[in-house]
Amino acid sequence: MKRILGAIALLVATALAVPAWAVEEDGYQLWMRYRPLDRAAQARLDASAIIYQGAASPTVNAAIGELQRATKGWAGHAAPLRSGLQDGAIVLATPANAPQLAAQIDGLKTLGAEGYALKRLKLQGRRITLIAANTDIGLLYGSFAWLRAAGSGAALDKLDERSAPKLQLRVLNHWDNLDRTVERGYAGESIWDWWALPEVRDRRYIDYARANASLGINGAVLNNVNSKAEILTAPWIAKAAAVADVLRPYGIRVYLSARFSTPLELKETATADPLAPEVAAWWRRKADEIYRAIPDFGGFLVKANSEGQPGPQDYHRSHADGANMLAQALAPHKGIVMWRAFVYAAEKPVDRARQAYDEFKPLDGSFAPNVMVQVKNGAIDFQPREPFHPLFGAMKHTPLMMEFQITKEYLGFATHLAYLGPLFQETLRSDTRQREGGWTVAQVLEEGAGPAGLTGMAGVANIGSSRTWSGSHFDQANWYAFGRLAWNPQASARHIAQEWAAQTFPPAAAKDITDMMMMSREAVVNYMTPLGLHHLMGTGHHHGPAPWVDDLGRPDWNPVYYHKADRKGVGFDRTAGGSGALAQYAPELARRWSDPRSTPPELLLWFHHLPWTYAMPSGRDLWTELVAHYDLGVSQADELRKRWAKLRPMIDAERFEDVSTLLDKQYKEALWWRDASVAYFQSVSGLPLPAGVRAPERSLEEYKRQRFPFAPGRG
Ligand code: GCU
Repeated sequence: MKRILGAIALLVATALAVPAWAVEEDGYQLWMRYRPLDRAAQARLDASAIIYQGAASPTVNAAIGELQRATKGWAGHAAPLRSGLQDGAIVLATPANAPQLAAQIDGLKTLGAEGYALKRLKLQGRRITLIAANTDIGLLYGSFAWLRAAGSGAALDKLDERSAPKLQLRVLNHWDNLDRTVERGYAGESIWDWWALPEVRDRRYIDYARANASLGINGAVLNNVNSKAEILTAPWIAKAAAVADVLRPYGIRVYLSARFSTPLELKETATADPLAPEVAAWWRRKADEIYRAIPDFGGFLVKANSEGQPGPQDYHRSHADGANMLAQALAPHKGIVMWRAFVYAAEKPVDRARQAYDEFKPLDGSFAPNVMVQVKNGAIDFQPREPFHPLFGAMKHTPLMMEFQITKEYLGFATHLAYLGPLFQETLRSDTRQREGGWTVAQVLEEGAGPAGLTGMAGVANIGSSRTWSGSHFDQANWYAFGRLAWNPQASARHIAQEWAAQTFPPAAAKDITDMMMMSREAVVNYMTPLGLHHLMGTGHHHGPAPWVDDLGRPDWNPVYYHKADRKGVGFDRTAGGSGALAQYAPELARRWSDPRSTPPELLLWFHHLPWTYAMPSGRDLWTELVAHYDLGVSQADELRKRWAKLRPMIDAERFEDVSTLLDKQYKEALWWRDASVAYFQSVSGLPLPAGVRAPERSLEEYKRQRFPFAPGRG
């Protein structure tokens, strides 16, 4: 008996001694971990019960379920569901289910269909937390907002918050193929188990929906923009409908990428010409069929006449002709078309950065009200740094949807730490100068345009079947940041990082982790493409340096096309004397950036071809400055791993090791980027290395010889 008691005492002592955060975690829980809190923190939660009066819808049940899951995790027992008020209750109220309670919030109506208010107050002598909204989905968003506040250490006893999304459509674009591979996916295979659908609905879809709802993401395009005709056949519509059923309670609508030539490829029409009546009729019937299966179907995303995809130009019709024909088929069902502006054609010998603007600007005002033009953040392709796309602010009569890439095709895949909050923020806060007094990209998006005033933001998802969902722990933060910025494009990247870090890692480590995140993207820019260089990555897979490549089928696939380095200088001249792309920006910006001295140094070689001897603001010449940036990038990558190492006592062993291993790999690859790039640019400039600079470890030939035929995520 003594021995048994002793053993029990030891067990209890060990259990008490091991802090909750030290328990192994594999990242599956994302930022919704709800780990046990100490007693003081439990008391601060003050969540004795959940009050909901009336019959709960599936959406309200999702809210209640999440609050219970969290309180169970945090305090050991789930807050019970009650109907009468009590001290410490979390009360969910809409004007429909509890008008008197909802009336506690002044001007609730102004928060619209998706907004919510959180408020601590005393009611009938009871201390409560009121979560009020106009609709059930608002209650779900409000519940997640309370969980976020609780999880990131906000003062819950002073809560008084109201929030409504600034954009209507907040959509993930999955580049997921029907065979479950994912284009530019680095997190395993697609989470959509198409083969097993529609019968088998993986439970993971619910966790996916919870994570998205926690951020306010309200749409998901399930399949790759490089789409296949089959996705619009009956068996696949049934599969998509099954996914839609799971996502619906969480406020998420399903969309599909449509291949423009679908009716022709399915041999159901003789052409795909958008102006042919049989084609328009086919799409109308198809839309009707889809809406019978998915009544709240969101609409189509279309990549047309881009990188070999079919489109209206195959029939000498315009993008507007194509988009409007599809829009007409969807309009009776209130569906929309997201028509991508990512176009460039090999036949045109003009600067690739110009082409989307050249094709779309003349079409401004000619799109149907339910068409949005989806524009990438920059004019080339999701580079570590690009100036904002000149279409923002220039299409005054067409609603534009932002397209960010959450998956890191050009920023080191899921193996490098690069928090994208600062990249997204940089674009959103860019002032287009298309209006007197300023007009940022975020404001352009928020205002919308066109008769229906549609607004939205899309993010190319980084989600897969990996246990971490995103391929690494830190890549989850990019999903998180996208969602938060889609809700509020003016939110701060640092604040979002802090919020994420506090919920994802022990709060004590949140500040240091936030600092690491905030420096990480600039580190990547420095060791890959400093000073406005771009598209120097390896052929096809886009991992690793390959600035020397000059032999690909079309000029604008080659890195040499983008840097134009030779004996005399480096950079792409986009001024009036060069490609003229600068003229696509507002006159004030075009003027400022046409002079290298008033161009921000970080965009210098994007807009200018300059001699290696060009004097930088730092006093160094361009060559010395370039090498210094590569060196800075390497030391920043080194700094990241050193900072992480110091956090060891605070982080659970499994996640600590996972991150450490990746940061070591990142450092190694930063060195590789630096050495290969310096070796290459030295070979073309013919200049000696600046004084005190380390020579590349290997010869240029050795870097050139490296091949990666099995890199993940290829298109
Ligand atoms: C990039 C990417 C492709 C993708 C394309 C797109 O070019 O490498 O994989 O299909 O963008 O956005 O359509």
